[in-house]
Amino acid sequence: MATASIPKTMQGVLAESTGGPEVLKWRTDIPVPTPEADEVLVKNEFIGVNYVDIYSRTGFLGMPRGRILGREAEGTIICTGSGNHRDLEVGNRVVWMAIGGYAEYTSVPETMVYKVPSAIQPGVAAAALLQGLTALLLIHEIYPVRNGDWVLIHAAAGGVGLLQCQLMKALGVKVIGTASTAEKLKIAKENGAEWVINYTEPGLVEKVLEITKGEGVQVVYDSIGKDQSENNIEVVAKGGTIVNNGASSGMGAPISPARLAAKNVKVMGPGDTALMNHLNSRQKFEKWCTMLFGLIVKGKLNVRIHDTYALSEAVRAHTDLQGRRTMGKVLMMP
Ligand SMILES: NC(=O)c1ccc[n+]([C@@H]2O[C@H](COP(=O)([O-])OP(=O)(O)OC[C@H]3O[C@@H](n4cnc5c(N)ncnc54)[C@H](OP(=O)(O)O)[C@@H]3O)[C@@H](O)[C@H]2O)c1
Repeated sequence: MATASIPKTMQGVLAESTGGPEVLKWRTDIPVPTPEADEVLVKNEFIGVNYVDIYSRTGFLGMPRGRILGREAEGTIICTGSGNHRDLEVGNRVVWMAIGGYAEYTSVPETMVYKVPSAIQPGVAAAALLQGLTALLLIHEIYPVRNGDWVLIHAAAGGVGLLQCQLMKALGVKVIGTASTAEKLKIAKENGAEWVINYTEPGLVEKVLEITKGEGVQVVYDSIGKDQSENNIEVVAKGGTIVNNGASSGMGAPISPARLAAKNVKVMGPGDTALMNHLNSRQKFEKWCTMLFGLIVKGKLNVRIHDTYALSEAVRAHTDLQGRRTMGKVLMMP
């Protein structure tokens, strides 16, 4: 095992139970983990905050082992496990996706570690990884969009949303984006949603049908769930697809088979869209990371960082994300 100087304890955020943001407790006495043979220990410099962390905190999804939330971070390898068979070395700048990110150090499986290209600015890799891979998989693998498709994307000014809008626009897709405020709609538009709708106001279905001249959209990418399930079936075109890839407002209501059959609509659910079901090997993780960071290096994908909070401000970061006050990526720094 190759090592650099490693302290015994570190700062981090523990979820002391499930509940509201206040259950997140910043501590300075958390033991630094020791990497297993197939892991590397990373000193995190930028930590990604994702909506999935809120699902874990509230108990909607399971609490991770060790009660440390956070699925991604960017930092430096400080120690490699004894079974490291890859070209990963102490000192490498990497980005990773696993669990236990709200901490100064995280032990992560070497299969989910990617070396950050030198042209990527500090913080951008952590800001891009999970949401960028989600956006790429949604449009290339889960429902591959085609040039000329009408697409409705909910929460278009969110972390995943802004990246997905840019990627789809570049593919010649006609993007209709929704969001809750005028400022968010403006940013969604700047990022590729040519048509925008405030979905907190009445008339979403009518507006989509007017924009598409009655046709409806070939696909709805819905990360909202409950609040939009009824609208989705109304705006999807005959033979179209509803992709359920999140539940920010709660689980979507089931749609009756008769209504789906009447329009010949396909619904893709959480099992089809869960990121980890598509990144279940090192080769797949590498392949999609290479595509993601290639686009960023070439200037074809712009990552908007909403704000960077201190790790000790995790409560505020969660309050802002859940309170719909963010546009783009939320980061934390130890
Ligand atoms: N399938 C997967 O593996 C996968 C991977 C990553 C993310 N996701 C999902 O993709 C979605 C976006 O994730 P993200 O991290 O990029 O978050 P985000 O979009 O930056 O933030 C969530 C957004 O959802 C909107 N929203 C609508 N109703 C809401 C409500 N009742 N409460 C809170 N927010 C509400 C808000 O935008 P407005 O103010 O504009 O309404 C809010 O900004 C989440 O649902 C997440 O679970 C899925």
